[in-house]
Amino acid sequence: MTTVRRTLRAVGAAAAASFVLAAPAGAATATDSDHDALLARGAYLMNSIVACGNCHTPMGPTGPLAGMELAGSGDMPDVGMVWRAANLTPDPDTGLGAWTDAQLATAIRDGVRPDGSLIGPPMPVAFYKKMADADVAALIAYLRSISPVKHAVARSSYDFPLPASWGPPASAGLTAPDRTDPVAYGGYLADIGHCMHCHTPLHAEAPIPDERRVGAGGLAFPGPWGVVVAANITADRDTGIGGWTDQQVKDAITKGVRPDGSRLVGPMPVANYANMTPEDLDALVAWLRTVPAVSQRVR
Ligand code: HEC
Ligand code: HEC
Repeated sequence: MTTVRRTLRAVGAAAAASFVLAAPAGAATATDSDHDALLARGAYLMNSIVACGNCHTPMGPTGPLAGMELAGSGDMPDVGMVWRAANLTPDPDTGLGAWTDAQLATAIRDGVRPDGSLIGPPMPVAFYKKMADADVAALIAYLRSISPVKHAVARSSYDFPLPASWGPPASAGLTAPDRTDPVAYGGYLADIGHCMHCHTPLHAEAPIPDERRVGAGGLAFPGPWGVVVAANITADRDTGIGGWTDQQVKDAITKGVRPDGSRLVGPMPVANYANMTPEDLDALVAWLRTVPAVSQRVR
């Protein structure tokens, strides 16, 4: 899978070149090199920590389907819902080609479509709300650079009513924490990588994340691998990863291997995480160490 992702990155770079050449004069005030940098950042985020394709690219038995990057998932049966992740390619009819940048940003950070409807709960909007303007712009530049794929995806269906909104709109002018503060920057990476969307159990009373047990694992993920339960990644030494070295934590995240040599299975996009820079990985682990210990055995 790493090979596939690496190839996608190369394709992204090639698409970048043609996008710049094809940009109509006066379409943007930014220079070509500004745009190149934005697109490179978007490709990096998409193919490493952010990994929208983990939901939005259809998967076959051996991983992402070739030629279908971000073209939308099939039917994904889940508890209380059948979710279908939309086509994010620039196809004007079945994808996002007709959406403006502002509409895309609102969809990603606020979970609202141009027609005012709410994007359902599989999409980790609560985390994307914290995404810096520059990174939203970079991801949008990347989405505009990939090949359009005609693939109609129906909206998801839910057995429960959706709320009116996912809270107040993201504030304008959001920036990422400074990289000189690895814990803060690592926490930002964990947000835009929505680690805790998968690793936090739900309240016993309602299907919302239990803020008293952030990172304690326990959510079950059905899939081609059977059913796998998200791990406890809090600092608890017995039931979490408190006893692991930094290198062991990194090997789990980027190679899918635990300290005892067993392999992770399931939905975590390890092949994407393998593309993180060493600095970003250091920051992510520095932050992970600060997640308060919660004792909860899941495995
Ligand atoms: C954990 C799974 C998941 C991840 C990760 C995810 N999404 Fe989604 N997204 C969905 C699902 C499912 C829907 C459709 C929800 C519905 O129909 O209610 C959706 C809908 C959307 C829509 C609405 C499109 C339309 O035509 O209605 C946009 C735009 C979107 N996602 C963009 C993104 C971007 C950009 C990223 C990465 C930054 C991303 N998503 C990451 C699951 C995900
Ligand atoms: C799409 C859901 C999903 C996302 C996103 C996700 N994980 Fe996971 N993660 C899992 C599941 C499920 C497992 C358990 C796999 C298994 O048991 O084979 C796991 C396992 C792990 C493990 C191994 C722990 C152990 O005891 O086995 C670590 C460490 C980890 N995740 C960290 C992270 C970090 C850090 C992020 C964000 C960068 C992240 N995860 C994002 C679902 C996810």
